[in-house]
Amino acid sequence: MTVLVVEDDEITREAVSQYLRLSGFNVLEAESGEKALDLSRKVDVALVDVKLPGMSGIELVSEIKSRNLSCVVFIVTAYDDTETVKKSVEAGADDFIKKPVNLELLKLKITHALRNRVFHLYRNSYLKSLKKKLSLLEKTAEEFFTEYEDFLFEVLDILNMLSEYRDAETHKHTERVGWLSGRIAEEMGMDEAFVTEIQFAAPLHDIGKIGIPDRILLKPGILTPEEFEIMKQHTTIGFRILSRSSSPILQLGAEIALTHHERWNGSGYPKGLKGKEIPLSGLIVAVADSFDAMVSRRPYKKPKTLEEAFQEIEELSGKLYSPEVVKAFLKLEREIMDVYRREEDEDSSNDSRSSHKSSPGEGLEGIRE
Ligand SMILES: [Fe+2]
Ligand SMILES: [Fe+2]
Repeated sequence: MTVLVVEDDEITREAVSQYLRLSGFNVLEAESGEKALDLSRKVDVALVDVKLPGMSGIELVSEIKSRNLSCVVFIVTAYDDTETVKKSVEAGADDFIKKPVNLELLKLKITHALRNRVFHLYRNSYLKSLKKKLSLLEKTAEEFFTEYEDFLFEVLDILNMLSEYRDAETHKHTERVGWLSGRIAEEMGMDEAFVTEIQFAAPLHDIGKIGIPDRILLKPGILTPEEFEIMKQHTTIGFRILSRSSSPILQLGAEIALTHHERWNGSGYPKGLKGKEIPLSGLIVAVADSFDAMVSRRPYKKPKTLEEAFQEIEELSGKLYSPEVVKAFLKLEREIMDVYRREEDEDSSNDSRSSHKSSPGEGLEGIRE
């Protein structure tokens, strides 16, 4: 431990320094504030005489403290008046020692201060490292979130492509099912997170079709009951694929893949769930997907008009579809009509809903939706 003795009186300085050296401290000496400043960075304790030529002891204390925060500074003064003590404390002095200096007391005070200093140093460096860790963590969390978000959207995009690649349904169909599902959920008063999640998860409802053999998926004609049983497996296959992820969107996608063909009266598949046994996401996507399929042109059927489709969904409320979902869906009638009509107008020469490639196997499933 290094102690700096700042004292202009040579005899006092020598006596104090000598005693401290004999007590085992490493001692540096300075006769002025200016010289002391140069040495102050290297010391653990500074004993500063309040009366110095040039720079005053109190000025020196505040300078030392601004350069070496961990240095313990004692002001040494013959004046123990309140004003001097107050100024010393304001300048940053940790304690004061009265002149004439009691050497034994000085040694005790230094030893005690150094012990405390170790604790303060530890506390300060621990706090500093905590703050550093925290700021690093905040930054990383933000960056991590952005990276995760980008990554998730890329994965969703790839999954959507995969899903559409083998399916007859177009990108616009899956996009519309996502939009419709989000709007219905919002109309039902679901929270923002669920609305966003269902909007991104719903387009993946038929991803399991990538596991259906071509002879069935692409069969030009009506499926046999056996073939239809295999077709139904697109729900469980989709669930198996998407449930491998821990992402809330893909987890919801898994739930939707599994339940979008369940029907309110229990006539659906794969489990024949009834009413509220079916998760809300499945109930919502059932309506969105069926409606979009009804108004879409398929090789085996003419599209229904928007009015006809709304009427059919309404008639099937409480039979195939959840009454609550249908109620919210019907409230959106005007908005949905506007969106579909606008899209029809924009795309009138080459309507996406009339241009997708034919797939009777999928079509049969579409009829049953
Ligand atoms: Fe499906
Ligand atoms: Fe669909």
